[in-house]
Amino acid sequence: MTYQEFYGRSMSDPDGFWKEQAEAISWFEKPSEISFKDERGLYRWFKNGKLNTSYLALDYHVEHGRANQVALYYDSPVTNTKKKYTYAELLEEVRLFAGVLKARGVQKGDTVIIYMPMIPETVIAMLACARLGAIHSVVFGGFAPRELAIRIDDARPKLLLTASGGLEIDKVIDYMKIVNAALEESSHQPEGCIVYQRPFITAPLKAGRDFDWESLRAGAQPADYVVVDATDPLYILYTSGTTGRPKGVIRDNGGHAVALKFSMKYIYGAEPGEVYWAASDVGWVVGHSYIIYGPLLYGCSTILYEGKPVRTPDAGAFWRMIEEYRVRVLFTAPTAIRAIKKEDPNGLLRQRYDTSSLKYLFLAGERCDVATLEWSQQLLGIPVIDHWWQTESGWPMLANMVGIELLPIKPGSAGKPVCGYGLIVVGPDGNPLPPNQEGTVLVSTPLPPGCLPGLWNDNSRFISSYLSPYPGYYFTGDGGYTDEDGYVFITGRIDDIINVAGHRLSTSAMEEVVASHPSVAECAVIGIHDHMKGQVPVGFVVLKGGVNMAEAELEKELVRMVREKVGPVAAFKRVAITSRLPKTRSGKILRRIMRFIADQEPYNPPSTIEDGSVLGELETLMKTKGIGEAKEA
Ligand code: COA
Ligand code: AMP
Repeated sequence: MTYQEFYGRSMSDPDGFWKEQAEAISWFEKPSEISFKDERGLYRWFKNGKLNTSYLALDYHVEHGRANQVALYYDSPVTNTKKKYTYAELLEEVRLFAGVLKARGVQKGDTVIIYMPMIPETVIAMLACARLGAIHSVVFGGFAPRELAIRIDDARPKLLLTASGGLEIDKVIDYMKIVNAALEESSHQPEGCIVYQRPFITAPLKAGRDFDWESLRAGAQPADYVVVDATDPLYILYTSGTTGRPKGVIRDNGGHAVALKFSMKYIYGAEPGEVYWAASDVGWVVGHSYIIYGPLLYGCSTILYEGKPVRTPDAGAFWRMIEEYRVRVLFTAPTAIRAIKKEDPNGLLRQRYDTSSLKYLFLAGERCDVATLEWSQQLLGIPVIDHWWQTESGWPMLANMVGIELLPIKPGSAGKPVCGYGLIVVGPDGNPLPPNQEGTVLVSTPLPPGCLPGLWNDNSRFISSYLSPYPGYYFTGDGGYTDEDGYVFITGRIDDIINVAGHRLSTSAMEEVVASHPSVAECAVIGIHDHMKGQVPVGFVVLKGGVNMAEAELEKELVRMVREKVGPVAAFKRVAITSRLPKTRSGKILRRIMRFIADQEPYNPPSTIEDGSVLGELETLMKTKGIGEAKEA
């Protein structure tokens, strides 16, 4: 079957298509309906289907001949540790830790926050929550206490799981200190914290609140899986929105299991039993979907890599991993490839390793420039596939579905729509644009299984952010265009979200912090092009009248504040003082135009601009201070 035929079927008969795909998972009770409308009048998938995601990811494989196959490899160059768990062993660990959670009162529907580094216990904790029907919410380690506190207050977890620390190459991250600071800031307090002590840092435990992971595990009774509904939430993953408040993306159990298993076969072209490696972090959606759930649901061996593409110990780290684990499919962010290319431009380290096991390299998380794609393709001699998705979708929306048909690769394009996704590009009037004209990317609703059914505690924000802007469509927040062959090119966010080294961040959250500085009258934080990280944030600041502060001093203070309030991962390092900001007559700051100036892209000043002369001033300011660079193709 061709891609076109397969895709066509998914769009002309979605229920028939997804009913067939749902046969690939082992339901305790099959769904009585495939798509249906819920009490909000919104589409959901697999009514009355009963399952358990942890069962499907572990027990099912143990029962079907994979007990002795490695489920999880843990490779940690930062601690010099390697470990592996067979499916039987991982199941045993998950059963035990589910027993720990159960003994502490965690039940189906409870929320549990997991703030942990890239260690097997994190994977075990997530699968243990899934086993009990509890809803996990993993928070990325690079966020500051305030960001953790916001998530604690929104998710209202029964328990918080953490570790004593993480290692960022050679820098120790004191997780417990961050947790303590977050709990001081949050009004919600979990009933307890379970702390995994790592050898290089010991966390002091607060009596009555904190419990030692290993001691609880040692005394635990294994817990069995709890049957849940397809529509019950599996997890909440907070992601940056256009305000400082993150959005709690909900993922349900049934649609997620069906979609991820489908994607492993048809998008990634993987086979059960093969080694699949997503070099990402469990704190991001890529980690949820393709370090943990996708590979395990499909019976692959997955890898948890506590290291970096470079400096652990060198730019040959990825190639060493491929050789050592015979990796078949690798998934990473373009920024990781750029980091490798910078250190080893001629790919000499690659030649030291046998990477012949690798069939495909998939890239996502940010726009992939042509040079990066072509460099990696030449280096590895295999198809390198750019594909596009979001936390909200949970799995790719655009790709080259190599498991059905490898289409010609067009560098710069993230491919064609994946089965179930009806994509259009519209202009400012909401009408579809002809090929090669850039506009707003929309996806027709209902979205396929696996995509977000809502936002935690905020249905009205779900509707106003995604569904109301273009009725009948899901608003992606990305701009792009299609070409005459139906390939889609994603050009970047059209809102205030930025992607820094593959990490999704909100400039509004940073603006809130900058604006709170006593010398700042007003400010704009924009994401500008960066040849290594894709984008980096820069703050433009107008000082309060009478304040005469040196730019370098202000920059130092603001950088520290953003690090402390948002987190080091924001990579906020540049501040420029300006006498004014470009605004519309109604007072809205024209951040997009500022971005065009920094990225040296052509733009048309809107007719609503208050005073166009400010744009020339900004151009001069940025040139003088060396802010901004032209985007590569
Ligand atoms: N816990 C604590 N701090 C973290 C962290 C974590 N989990 N992850 C990153 N940080 C910190 C880093 O230590 C760094 O701090 P510093 O300013 O003190 O040096 C800061 O956040 C920025 O980190 P990062 O974005 O990782 O930049 P980098 O320059 O250290 O490394 C890359 C660059 C390309 C190696 C790295 O960004 C990378 O591997 N990116 C891939 C991203 C990815 O997997 N995205 C998921 C989509 S596939
Ligand atoms: P996240 O929710 O963290 O996965 O970030 C999603 C955003 O990352 C998207 O809305 C895009 O802006 C960007 N993105 C992800 N993959 C790609 C890609 N292949 N090409 C361009 N942008 C991408």
